[in-house]
Amino acid sequence: MKKTLKLRAVVSPTPAIIAAAYDENGKADACTLAFYTPTSHKPPCLTIAINATAKRKTLKSILRSGAFTIGYPSIEQAAEADWIGMASGYDHDKIAEVGWTTTKAEKVDAPVINELKLTVECKVVNTVDIGSHTQITGEVVNIQADESILDERGKYDLAKLNPIIYDEEQFAYRTLGGKTADAFKAGLRFRDDRP
Ligand SMILES: Cc1cc2nc3c(=O)[nH]c(=O)nc-3n(C[C@H](O)[C@H](O)[C@H](O)COP(=O)(O)O)c2cc1C
Repeated sequence: MKKTLKLRAVVSPTPAIIAAAYDENGKADACTLAFYTPTSHKPPCLTIAINATAKRKTLKSILRSGAFTIGYPSIEQAAEADWIGMASGYDHDKIAEVGWTTTKAEKVDAPVINELKLTVECKVVNTVDIGSHTQITGEVVNIQADESILDERGKYDLAKLNPIIYDEEQFAYRTLGGKTADAFKAGLRFRDDRP
C-alpha cells in the first residue's frame, strides 16, 4: 500500500556541498547546498540551485563574479558545514568562525576552502530562475584534491573523502555506505549475448 506524501523537492540522499565565491570587496562567501547535480560531460558542468527569495549572500557573489567553487566536506566536518548553512555572510564571518581558511582558486576568481579535501572550480555558463531558486550552471575548469583522499591510480576515493550525505526528509547527516557492486558491470548478467 503506497501513501501520498507532502509535495516537496525530493533531495534525499545527496551530498551536502559548500559553494564559495568572492564578494565585491574580495571577501570569501560560502553557503552549504543540497540542491546540486552534475549536468554535462562535455564540457563538464554542474548545476546548483540557490534560493533567490531568501537571505543568500553567496548567490549575489556568484552572480557578481561569474565564478564559484564547490567543496565537499567530510562527515567529520558536519558541524562546520551545518553552521555555514545556517548563518548568513551578511551577519557573520562564518568561514573564520568555524576555523576555516581560504586561498584563491587556481583557474577562477573564487575562494577554495583549504580544509575541504575535494574542490571543484567553476565558471558560470548559465543561470535560470525556477520558482524560488536560481539555478546556476558552472563549467568545471579545475579540480583540486588532497593527496590523502587519492587511491594508487590518482582517483579520489569516496571512502577516504567520507562525504556528508544529507537527508532532507529526516533533517539528518548520514555517512556513505560501502561498495556493493561494480557499476556498468553488475547489470551485464541481463545482456542477451552474455557468455
Ligand atoms: C544541509 C543544508 C543544505 C542546504 N541547501 C541549500 C540549497 O540547496 N539551496 C539554498 O539556497 N540554501 C541551502 N541551504 C541554506 C543556506 O546554506 C543558508 O541559507 C546560508 O546561511 C546562506 O548563507 P549566505 O547568506 O552567506 O549565502 C542549506 C543549508 C543546509 C544546512
